[in-house]
Amino acid sequence: MPDDTVRLTDNRTGKSYDLPLFHGTLRAMDLRQIKTGPEDFGLMTYDPAFMNTASCMSSVTYIDGDQGILRYRGYPIDELAEKCTFLDVAWLLLNGELPNPDESAEWSNKISHHTMIHENLKKFMEGFRHDAHPMGMFVSTVAALSTFYPEARDVKSRQSRKLQIMRLIGKVPTIAAYAYRHSLGLPYVYPDNTLGYAENFLNMLWKMTEPKYNPDPVLARALDILFILHADHEQNCSANTMRAVGSSQADPYLSLAAAAAALAGPLHGGANEEVLRMIDEIGSVSNVPAFVDKVKAGQCKLMGFGHRVYKNYDPRAKIIKRTAEEVFKVTGANPKLEIAIELEQIALRDEYFIKRKLYPNVDFYSGIIYQAMGFQPDIFTVLFAIPRTVGWLAQWQELVDDSEQKIARPRQIYTGHDVRHVGELAATAAAPSIVRT
Ligand code: ACO
Repeated sequence: MPDDTVRLTDNRTGKSYDLPLFHGTLRAMDLRQIKTGPEDFGLMTYDPAFMNTASCMSSVTYIDGDQGILRYRGYPIDELAEKCTFLDVAWLLLNGELPNPDESAEWSNKISHHTMIHENLKKFMEGFRHDAHPMGMFVSTVAALSTFYPEARDVKSRQSRKLQIMRLIGKVPTIAAYAYRHSLGLPYVYPDNTLGYAENFLNMLWKMTEPKYNPDPVLARALDILFILHADHEQNCSANTMRAVGSSQADPYLSLAAAAAALAGPLHGGANEEVLRMIDEIGSVSNVPAFVDKVKAGQCKLMGFGHRVYKNYDPRAKIIKRTAEEVFKVTGANPKLEIAIELEQIALRDEYFIKRKLYPNVDFYSGIIYQAMGFQPDIFTVLFAIPRTVGWLAQWQELVDDSEQKIARPRQIYTGHDVRHVGELAATAAAPSIVRT
């Protein structure tokens, strides 16, 4: 028997099946042949929340959750964070290789020429209430971009895809900055193409009356590093949404808006905002043990802890902690850091967290840096969505080029009623009455 097969025996029929392994994995469709008779649909798998199902093949990002390893296109995340710019990493994720100096310069130049948004889109954003959550504004405005670029529907055109990708990477910081300025009642600031990607974002956020904004180089570099760390994370909830919506051949603006909506949830990218709220609720280092007891009693979660894939320290959290030190040299320390460190230390020693392999994830420290830089918590998830746009697009591009992919359409185990019929009484009660006015 070849050793790259698995033998399954169906105890209902006594038949055995040798199923081939594909990259060490069973193809779910191979199970369909396992039937009790010709009328039988065939065996399916049941996997709520995709705990053990690979939905695609991907060469973008590699994670080893037990070892705490994260690599983009084979490069360790810490090397990329140390030696590259965010835009070079974006090129890497989208094209598979790091750019040479000419490619890098041309790519930055092209992205900077896609940073403007149509004035009507600006007016569209002005329609939001003054207290609209920036993430709701971000999701809706990215979706609205679809109406400005109808040619984006031609998702089969490689050339069009390239253009939409550049537009999205160029425009998301502008949309994010406008959403933020709107919530503060400040006038919008136009992009400055002489600045780098993170620098220009800071310009659009913070520029007041000065003719030219000069971003602090340490803060701009810290933001660029944070962007690198957040750029992709393989098949997480939002990447899966990007692929699921993209599989219907919706245009990339609509698919990306859906992915950003998935990111907004507190169990995913919304966790960074929740971490800050949690730290505020704890209030002081002396209250940490009582809070940890509440978590252990199941009354709440320790936000920023735990991960579906990492069962070890999230490698991004380590780099964020180091970056925080650089930021605090400029901004002064965020007093919330002390509470976070105490939380981490108590949790990492506690049996509850050790047994469940719960470690700090990327969101645990990122909010503390963002806050020290001057951001309000409700913009944190938008700060995550800007770089993750690149990852979503890399995943989408891969999906569109994958000949094995089709419209995403899971199966279900139906647990409802068998057929039944509407009785006379129910039919009368349900009939709508016609009201004449
Ligand atoms: N605090 C306390 N207990 C936790 C936490 C936490 N943060 N996370 C998981 N647990 C416990 C669960 O209650 C469960 O305990 P049980 O076995 O006694 O029932 C066990 O650990 C396993 O947890 P699951 O929920 O099954 O793990 P899952 O892989 O489904 O969830 C998730 C992962 C959603 C990230 C979870 O750890 C969580 O909710 N964390 C807090 C939110 C957060 O920080 N999200 C950001 C993730 S990173 C990102 O998306 C960018």
